Formats: sequence, structure tokens, C-alpha cells
Amino acid sequence: MESQSAKSAIENPKSEIQNLKSLPAPAFHDPKHQIDIYQGDCLELLPLRPQNSVDMIFADPPYFLSNNGITCHAGRMVSVNKGAWDRSRGPDANHEFNRAWLAACQRVLKPNGTIWVSGTAHVIHSVGFAMQQLGMKLLNDITWIKPNPPPNLSCRYFTHATETLIWAAKNLKSRHTFNYRLMKELAGGRQMKSVWQIDPPERAEKRFGKHPTQKPVALLERILLASSKEGDLVLDPFMGSGTTAVAAVRLRRAALAVEAAEDFSCLASGRLLAEFVWVGAGVDYFEMGLDLYCLFMDRSNGMPTKSPLHLPSKLVHRERKFYFVGLYRREIIFTVTALSMEEAWHQFQSSGASKDEVFSVIKTETEIYLAQ
Ligand SMILES: C[S@@+](CC[C@H](N)C(=O)[O-])C[C@H]1O[C@@H](n2cnc3c(N)ncnc32)[C@H](O)[C@@H]1O
Repeated sequence: MESQSAKSAIENPKSEIQNLKSLPAPAFHDPKHQIDIYQGDCLELLPLRPQNSVDMIFADPPYFLSNNGITCHAGRMVSVNKGAWDRSRGPDANHEFNRAWLAACQRVLKPNGTIWVSGTAHVIHSVGFAMQQLGMKLLNDITWIKPNPPPNLSCRYFTHATETLIWAAKNLKSRHTFNYRLMKELAGGRQMKSVWQIDPPERAEKRFGKHPTQKPVALLERILLASSKEGDLVLDPFMGSGTTAVAAVRLRRAALAVEAAEDFSCLASGRLLAEFVWVGAGVDYFEMGLDLYCLFMDRSNGMPTKSPLHLPSKLVHRERKFYFVGLYRREIIFTVTALSMEEAWHQFQSSGASKDEVFSVIKTETEIYLAQ
């Protein structure tokens, strides 16, 4: 399963230096916040990275559970199939694949770095065995409980309500990062247990499109907070919809992510852009008794000044447009960009039009914020 380039880079460090030159252009690149997304096969791309260069890895690999079975989603019977990438190739080939990408991850991990892998029973035992074969140090296995799991339609099994996360260090000598105090604080002053209850992704997390196995940002935030520091480089070799990169941005970690499918890579880019850019649009309607001192979206009169972006952000553009609607002709009879209703009204009258022709005025206001 291991690709030729992966093998040659691991076996021959000189070829790694040559290969580094051929790293493809990232599909998403933000040098300011150090976020890079590469579209491609992680088995081919990871060997192009320098060894010992990544602080922490989160990997959510194919589960190999797309076996034409059925499950229940939103009260309906649906196929469990996630996509061609999730099809089982048989237990031996699946294990070889897990071993190959885990080896590629182990190579790029710094000596004290750690890796988290999530999965169901279809894959997680192979992952744990491969980690031991590679000499990694198993640190914890976390049981992630999902409240409200879909019912089991066959009524021949217990309802699947958990996933397992294995947390391991690069090797037996690693002195790994664990932010013990912070975890204790988050657990209400008690040692945090290895059983986590976290809701599935919220609706807002899927507003740029859906990924069949999208993880909640809250899960990735906890993982990053537990085992990395601000400024650390976090790698996700199976990025999907970009959840790890989103959590990294919010917690001020750098991120490097790889995704094979073009549509998921685009979805992740959209999610990331929304972390850096916010466009607020406001619309007000005024009847003819015009209030020249109407509320604007500008926050100068006691309204909140904070944009919904998670990073400190700056208002870089504001535009107010005024649309005058005709009293008899229900059309826009005059449009102007102005700072205030008073100025817009003045410009309207300067055009030779009469206020008797106006039914109403619509003001639209756009604000663009950029994360700094
Ligand atoms: C289980 S999903 C990850 C979901 C992700 N954690 C999220 O929150 O959206 C696995 C992803 O790995 C991608 N994938 C499968 N094989 C890959 C490979 N060899 N290299 C890179 N990505 C791969 C699939 O397209 C899929 O989007």
C-alpha cells in the first residue's frame, strides 16, 4: 500500500531534500496564520515534509465501514456508505494501509510529539496494533460518547453510541505535552476522565456543505488544548471538511492538512475563509416620514463592536446604500451611496426629483471584517 515516493523518502533522506522542492502548491495558504491545505494523497505528500517537523497530529482515517449496510438518519433509512475512500479492501490490505500512513506520520512528528487517531471498531484495533508495531507509546484511549445516536434498525445489535480515540507518543522515549491543569479546570476541578461526552457538529458547522463523517469542532478544540501549545504546528493527514484546521485557527495553532478529494478540500477552504472574513449585511426600511437619524449598523451608539470572528478583527470596509422606491412606479427610482440618510436625501433632491414621488427608502449596509 505504501507509495513509491513514501518508501524512497523514508529509506533515502537525500531523496527527501530533492522531493521537498516538488511539494505542490497548497490549495489553501495563509502565511499570516500559518495554515496550509494540500489536496492529494497523504501517503505521497507526507514524505515531502521534513522529518521531526510537526508537534501534534490528529488523524481521522477511512473507517472501512462502507459495506452497503443501512443506518438511520433523521428518521429515514439510509445507506451507511460514505464514499469510495471508505470501502474496505480486506483486513490485511486495510492494516497495511494503516501501518503505512502511521509510519509516515511518525516520521514527521517531533521526538516529543503525539498523535491522536479516531475511529470505530472497524479500524481502531488495527490502528492500535500498527502503533505498537511501529514502537509508539500508547498514552490513552478515549471513549467519545455521542448523545442521541441513530437507532439500530436491525435490532440485532446495541445502538452504536461511541467512537474511540487513541492518543500515542512518537516513541517510548517521548516526553509528551499534556496540559493537565487546563484539563482539570475544564472538568470542574477534578482530573479529566477518558470518557468524553461531546455533541455532534452543530448546524452552523455544516453551513458550507456536508461531510459524511465530520467531527465537531468542540472535540478537536479539546484535543488541541490537551496536547499542544499556542504556535505549535498541528497536522491532519485526512482533513475531510477541515475541522482540525478550524480548531487550530481558533486556538492560535499553525495547521497543515491533507485531503484527497477536491470537493472536501474546497469545503474546508470555505470554512477557513469564514474564520478570517466576516461580511455583515443589514437592511432597514423607512416609511415616508423619514427618520434622518435612524440606527445604522455602525456600532457607535452602544451596540456590540465585536465581529463574530474568533480572532481579533478589523472593520476594513463599510458601505451604505440607499434605494428610493417610487410611490406610483413600484421600482427603485434612485440609488445612492452615502454616509447618512440626510446626505442621501439631499442627493435625491439635487437630482431634481420630488419627495412626493417616494414610497419608501431602503438602506442596505455592508461591513467587511478581516481577522488580524
Ligand atoms: C473520516 S474522513 C475525515 C473527516 C474529518 N475529520 C472532518 O471533520 O471533516 C476521512 C477523509 O480522508 C480522505 N482521504 C481518504 N484517503 C486519503 C488519503 N490517502 N490521503 C488524504 N486524504 C484521504 C477522505 O476523502 C475523507 O474526506
